Amino acid sequence: MDVTDQENLPRGIELTSLSAEFRADPHGVLGRARAQCPVIHDGVLRDYVVLSAELGRKILADRALPTDPRQTAPSSTRRLRGEDLTKAPPLLFADDPDHRRVRGLMRQAFNQERIELVRARVARICHDLIDRIDGEAFDFIEAIARPLPTITIAEMLGVDPAQHENFKLWSDEMVAASLNPLASPQAKAAGAAAAISLNALFAAEIARRQAAGVDGEDLLSQIMRAEDGGDRLSPEEISEQAQLLLIAGNQTTTDLMGTMLRNILSTSGCWDRLVANPDLIPNAVDEAIRFEPPIFTTERIAPEDMDLAGLTVPKGYCIAVMLPSVNHDPALNPAPETFDIERQNIRHFSFGGGRHTCLGAPLARLEGQELLRALTGRMPRLRQADGEAAIVSMSPGFRGLDHLHLIRG
Ligand code: HEM
Repeated sequence: MDVTDQENLPRGIELTSLSAEFRADPHGVLGRARAQCPVIHDGVLRDYVVLSAELGRKILADRALPTDPRQTAPSSTRRLRGEDLTKAPPLLFADDPDHRRVRGLMRQAFNQERIELVRARVARICHDLIDRIDGEAFDFIEAIARPLPTITIAEMLGVDPAQHENFKLWSDEMVAASLNPLASPQAKAAGAAAAISLNALFAAEIARRQAAGVDGEDLLSQIMRAEDGGDRLSPEEISEQAQLLLIAGNQTTTDLMGTMLRNILSTSGCWDRLVANPDLIPNAVDEAIRFEPPIFTTERIAPEDMDLAGLTVPKGYCIAVMLPSVNHDPALNPAPETFDIERQNIRHFSFGGGRHTCLGAPLARLEGQELLRALTGRMPRLRQADGEAAIVSMSPGFRGLDHLHLIRG
């Protein structure tokens, strides 16, 4: 295989949901490209795109690779997207020592143990959303997948319930602007305005807690109390982290819920097995996360000229790891194209890897599990509506559904 032979490989929007072929069958497009070459020189929307599990794992685990946009070369596609280089980036794009400091403080408040404490509350939110469904037929995305992650994180943070609607609107606008490489100027302006509104909301929430003594058990109070040798996050940093939790956990979890349910309902006998044996639910959620990762790529930057399977990535150019391709590499999991809720030793990189591994992974899993428990318990005959039940979203960076029409049965 000659990696420099890049003829006929998909690139640019052909590797996003804007392409009808990719939208219909991303694993087919990626599988054919991966068989030809482990890395694509894109140069349109992304610089270099890694397809193989071996390379993907290596890039994500490499702690020497930065993510801070200020480390990108002026001609890298990421720089051309117009990222703000004037201030320190959020945690997701921060490098050490800032990343280590902020992540360490955040993990005191937002970790597996603390997330587990909200399980009963998430179950209650799922049941409340199901209670509100009126009639036999419903759109699962509208009724459950969209509101669930925002209500969950808003309640966890301890945001005033009167602000939940605004919270959802502003976080959607920020996601549309910040995680979309093709965001329009209008979407970017709406995102910037939403960020100002959310900043004001969090400033008020923080001030309210400071005045009352910061002794609450909500996540915002816990983040405010996190401390390492006298070091704490400033109010501005706390607001920034709270917004990151919103952005990082909103669209991603909605998308996971949608594709998870579609894959379960469209795989013969799968729903009935979950109804009969709810102990399979945690494994089913992990398989859904492997099978259809909500985020297509996560990026690292070459700190020097780097060799990638024989292709040279110049210093300051970005290496995007194509997560669905890595997850479906037969070198990572046997029979990767089979959706198997009883699969053993599920391996995937849907939550990224290395020092930036998703902080919210335990919460996303927990929401998926509690949702499936509630739905299998209350709608044992659930099925997809006739016709085109699922409409795949055209958001370029995410794999999700705009609609999933279901029948209660
Ligand atoms: C299915 C749902 C989710 C998926 C697929 C997902 C995926 C990811 C990915 C791919 C990354 C980048 C990792 C890397 O570059 O190596 C990431 C980072 C992150 N995610 Fe998630 N995420 C999900 C849900 C959540 C939730 C619910 C939250 C919080 C409420 C969250 C918070 C974060 C944070 C804070 C980071 C930055 C971590 C760091 O840079 O140190 N995510 N996530």
